[in-house]
Amino acid sequence: MSYSDVHQSYGRCRRAGNFVDRFYERFLAADDRVAAAFQTTNWSQQKRALGQAVSTAISYAEGESFVAPTMEKMAEVHSRHGRVPVEPELYGVWLECMVETAREVDPRWEEPLAQRWRGALSPAIDLFIERY
Ligand code: HEM
Repeated sequence: MSYSDVHQSYGRCRRAGNFVDRFYERFLAADDRVAAAFQTTNWSQQKRALGQAVSTAISYAEGESFVAPTMEKMAEVHSRHGRVPVEPELYGVWLECMVETAREVDPRWEEPLAQRWRGALSPAIDLFIERY
C-alpha cells in the first residue's frame, strides 16, 4: 500500500513549521495520563524524535522492511517492561491528536486525508499494542 499522499501531507505540515508543537499542545491537554507521562521530558529531543517517528510509521504502513527494526525498537520502549510504558488505551488519543493537528496545519488539507492518515498510522499502533 502506498501512502505517498500522507507522506506529502506530513511534509506540508512540517514545512508549515508548527506541527510538532501543536501536536504536543493537543496531546498533553487530551488526557491527564499523557501530561503525567511527559513531566520530566527533554522537549527539544522529544520533538525531534516524534518528527522522525511519524515518517517511520508511515513507511512501516507501506511495508518498507528497512524501517521494521526501528519500529520494533520504538514498540519495545513503550511496552509494559520498557523505559516508557504506554497503556494501549492512549493510542486512540494519540491518533486523533495527530489527525486533528494535520487537519489544522496542512495548508492543502482535504477531508479524505483524515482516513488516509488513520490508515497510515494504524499498523504502527497495532504493533505497539501487540508488543505491550
Ligand atoms: C504510535 C504512537 C507513538 C510513537 C510512534 C511514539 C514514539 C516515541 C519515540 C520515538 C520516543 C523517543 C524514545 C526514546 O527516547 O528512545 C517516545 C518517547 C515517549 N513517548 Fe511515545 N510514541 C507513541 C505514542 C505515545 C503515547 C500514546 C504516549 C502516551 C503517554 C507516549 C509517551 C511517550 C513518552 C512519555 C516518552 C518519553 C519522553 C521522555 O523522554 O521523557 N508515546 N515515543
